[in-house]
Amino acid sequence: CHSPELIHLFDLSGKIAVVTDILRATSCMVAGIGSGAEQIVPVAQKEEVNPYKEKGFVTAGERGGEKIEGFDIGNSPFEHMEIAQKGKSVVMTTTNGTVAITKSAVEAKQVIIGAFLNISSVVQYLKESGKDIVIVCSGWKGMFSMEDTLFAGALVDRLESVAEIVDDAALSSMSLYRAVSGDLLGYMQNASHAKRLSGLKAVKDLEYCMTKDEFDVIPVLKDGALVKM
Ligand code: MLT
Repeated sequence: CHSPELIHLFDLSGKIAVVTDILRATSCMVAGIGSGAEQIVPVAQKEEVNPYKEKGFVTAGERGGEKIEGFDIGNSPFEHMEIAQKGKSVVMTTTNGTVAITKSAVEAKQVIIGAFLNISSVVQYLKESGKDIVIVCSGWKGMFSMEDTLFAGALVDRLESVAEIVDDAALSSMSLYRAVSGDLLGYMQNASHAKRLSGLKAVKDLEYCMTKDEFDVIPVLKDGALVKM
C-alpha cells in the first residue's frame, strides 16, 4: 500500500500490517525500542501528545522534517537512541509515519514496525507467522516515496520464496529494489525526502536509516503503544 491515503482500498482485517517510514519515523522507532525505550506511543496530531507529556513522556516529533517547537526531541534516530538509553517512554507525532500507523491499527490484526535497521528480524517473523501481509508505505503527504518503496521491495525480495505476491505494487517494488540494490544509498540520493533532509543537515540520519540490521527487535503495537515484541 503506497500511502496511508490508500489504506481504505485494502482489506487489512486478519492481516499483519508492516508499517514503514524509512526516512525517518519507523527507523527512529526501531532505533528507540532497540536501544531500550520502554514504549513509543504514535499519535497523528500534535495536540495528542499533551496528556502523555503530563504523565512525563518525552515528546518527539517533526513537521516537514523539522523538530516541532516546544518538543523535547525531533525525528533523528540518534536523538531516539540517546533518550532510549535512559529507558524513557516517548510520545511521537510525525508528518506521515505516525499517521500510517494509527490508520493501519483500525483494521489490521497486528501492526509491526519495519525499517532497514531491523529488516532480517521482520522477515523472519513474517515467514514464521504464515499470515497475510500488507506492507504500508507512509510516503509523503499521501504521495509515493522512493525509500519506503525500496524497503517494501527488499521485504518482498526476501519473502518471495515463501509467499504468493498478489499485488502489482509489491511486484514492482521488488523489481525496483533488485535493480538498484547494488548501490541503494547512491540511488536514494535522488529521492525527494533525501534532498529535503540534506537541506536540513540530516545526511547522517539518511545514511543510518539505510543501514541493515543494526537491531534485532520488532516494535509491535499493543494497546496504542509500540513495545518490543
Ligand atoms: C514522517 O513521518 O513523515 C517522517 O519521519 C519525516 C522525517 O523525516 O522527519
